[in-house]
Amino acid sequence: MESVTTAARMKEVSAGTRAAGRRLGLVPTMGALHEGHLSLVQKALAECGTVVLSIYVNPLQFGPGEDFERYPRDLGRDAALARGAGVAILFVPGEGEVHIAGHRTRVEVEGMQDALCGRSRPGHFRGVTTVVAKLLAIVRPHAAYFGEKDAQQFRIVRRMARDLHAEATLVACPTVREADGLALSSRNAYLTPEERRAAPVLHRALEEGAGLARSGVRDAGAILERVRRTLASEPLARVDYVEAVDDETLAPVAEVRGRVLLAAAAWFGRARLIDNVTVG
Ligand code: PAF
Repeated sequence: MESVTTAARMKEVSAGTRAAGRRLGLVPTMGALHEGHLSLVQKALAECGTVVLSIYVNPLQFGPGEDFERYPRDLGRDAALARGAGVAILFVPGEGEVHIAGHRTRVEVEGMQDALCGRSRPGHFRGVTTVVAKLLAIVRPHAAYFGEKDAQQFRIVRRMARDLHAEATLVACPTVREADGLALSSRNAYLTPEERRAAPVLHRALEEGAGLARSGVRDAGAILERVRRTLASEPLARVDYVEAVDDETLAPVAEVRGRVLLAAAAWFGRARLIDNVTVG
């Protein structure tokens, strides 16, 4: 595994890989790797052969008072996991390599970035689309891999990639879960043992809502009510939002017809966790 810390070297390596006729897959991460990230690497390896895993805790996507400073960072552990998973190139850009000195450009996907998590995290998705646009420009992958747990993020970056005529295909991979249903997330590390025991209620509540939809209930209000009631039964859960939106545009829906995303976010202590299920 080659470790790369500059944009210039990353571009060279990418050009060399392409010139050799090999396909390059990008798995963008902020580190604190877990099985969810490694499943993205497996998918990228199967489809591309040569995999770049980037680790960059992007300051642009954290709001004031969010967890940028305390976001878990352990490069030694992440590098060992990446090597073991078959990553060929570990891209850990140094200061000023992604957001260069004097940078002023932001990329935003209007509308979609203000829904769901965007309401309580203003500016978050603008930070994500800006950094992903830059990573795509530096790495020039044939495909880039994202987790479905961050459903809104994936739909927004896919929209951005289409709108900007990006070369890369953006691929979403299924959420990896603990045995009790909790979606893997780097932020699960913030949970106390009691909060960890409580946290699977997020997935359970969404599944109950999805179950109603699958049994033929069309009224989104009734489905969301069921999800909210189940979440309210867990005293350690503090709900941020529960919503039913169009699976592509993220516009709220009143009726479950076609593909609908049921998405929720809730606080368990200082961990804000998100999850979703699709129906239809
Ligand atoms: O999902 C993440 O870890 C981040 O939002 C991403 C896509 C690496 C951009 O910083």
